[in-house]
Amino acid sequence: MAELERTQRHAPAPKDWTYAPAPESRDVVRIAERYGNFIGGEWVEPRDTYATVSPSSEEPLATVAQGTEADVDAAVGAARDAFANGWSELSGSERAKYLFRVARILQERAREFAVLESLNGGKPIKESRDVDLPLAAAHFFYYAGWADKLEYAFPNRSPRPVGVAGQIIPWNFPLLMLAWKVAPALACGNTVVLKPAETTPLTALLFCDVLRQAELPAGVVNIVTGDGRTGAALVDHDGVDKIAFTGSTEVGKAIQRRLAGTGKRLTLELGGKAANIVFDDSALDQAVEGIVNGIYFNQGHVCCAGSRLFVQESIHEQLVEKLKRRLTTLRVGDPLDKNTDVGAINSAMQLEKIRSLVQSGVDEGAEIYQPPCRLPEKGYWFAPTVFTNVAQSYRIAQEEIFGPVLSVLTFRTPDEAVEKANNTPYGLSAGIWTEKGSRILWMAQRMRAGVVWANTFNRFDPTSPFGGYKESGFGREGGLHGLEPYLRFEE
Ligand code: NAI
Ligand code: MG
Repeated sequence: MAELERTQRHAPAPKDWTYAPAPESRDVVRIAERYGNFIGGEWVEPRDTYATVSPSSEEPLATVAQGTEADVDAAVGAARDAFANGWSELSGSERAKYLFRVARILQERAREFAVLESLNGGKPIKESRDVDLPLAAAHFFYYAGWADKLEYAFPNRSPRPVGVAGQIIPWNFPLLMLAWKVAPALACGNTVVLKPAETTPLTALLFCDVLRQAELPAGVVNIVTGDGRTGAALVDHDGVDKIAFTGSTEVGKAIQRRLAGTGKRLTLELGGKAANIVFDDSALDQAVEGIVNGIYFNQGHVCCAGSRLFVQESIHEQLVEKLKRRLTTLRVGDPLDKNTDVGAINSAMQLEKIRSLVQSGVDEGAEIYQPPCRLPEKGYWFAPTVFTNVAQSYRIAQEEIFGPVLSVLTFRTPDEAVEKANNTPYGLSAGIWTEKGSRILWMAQRMRAGVVWANTFNRFDPTSPFGGYKESGFGREGGLHGLEPYLRFEE
């Protein structure tokens, strides 16, 4: 005891919480100067190119292909050949071998991928290292396990592959979204043409090296980079049997319109405006951690982010105070620094969108709070932001901001919480914080949301299906449900 007291006297609480820089080395990953499209197991020289940059420094990282209609056509052709010439007839256990290999190689090369993901996308290295990479590998392991058990997963229904899957993914979890899409497609015997988002193509391109290492037959997975025009060419291609899309509701709706009447299958995983609901009996400090994780994880570039916080009126003041104090400890800065909590905004365009929505919140009369933090001069940055005094009608309470911006609203009764939480065109996820198990179940039943977390937030697992209601899309990814979109049944 005396010993303890002496240490305390001699070690006063530090006044300054800055840490010495702890950057992860960039040397673990080699980025080529120029990438083509990966078609039929070969790198195909691009007709048209653009530069992909690091959002934290605006430094160009590589020249990549702006895929044309002809590139997409070649990729779909390669996928069609690979489907017909062996892959779709391979036994499930043989397909599983390739998926297990991919999973293991991703684990082995995790550090390399994590650094590249943070460099190209701006997310903190501790997230790419501890979340994106382990989960991406886990998805391949999980679906490898299903590949030879489809008959048991769907008894008496003769599951068969659908054919060529066109997959279009966003920039918030580039490699993880690739894994969510590619793993179930291959497990079911399909072949793939995948288009990464224009701002984050590099981990998908490095993944081609993993495919070669795993000796996956040529043409089973093809990767064509480029912007929305490349995506549109893939959607419109006659040789594609199924489209899987994750991205904005606006583009999702456009894709659905284009596919109407074509017979192509479609799953859409779109935006969200999730409610994170805190009752007065919850463990407040735990809830504060969940709120921070819910909206500042990955700079809020998360479709299921807890962007609307509903607090029971009696604890509003206390909770907001705790939350603001917690915000002052968040470290914003270099994505490659191991101590960084909040990294760079993914692109200049996204930063502009966040800024304009935040300005609308100020103009409409909400009260803004941002902790003091020095943002780097180069690159795209936005300080963690909390809005209080928010009305349900404000744009910041209605529209997906997709940035580190939280809107705090209040409620009095559970009924009111349900009413307000569901009052959105979206329905992807929700969070409930309370000590009462019965209330968790009561609330969960009433949430129009695909995922409901209780006393936690932003937890993901390959065994658990994920997807939306209403304008958040349809179809499920993950779990047994995630196999269905990639199968047809000969009943
Ligand atoms: P986006 O929906 O335009 O992009 C997503 C993917 O779709 C990218 O690969 C893009 O190249 C592709 N794409 C764009 N237009 C296409 C078209 N006509 N046909 C086929 N593919 C097309 O999203 P964007 O513009 O990057 O972000 C805008 C907003 O969308 C964000 O601020 C955010 O609110 C939301 N968003 C939501 C995501 C989610 O996971 N739910 C992911 C990305 C964005
Ligand atoms: Mg767009």
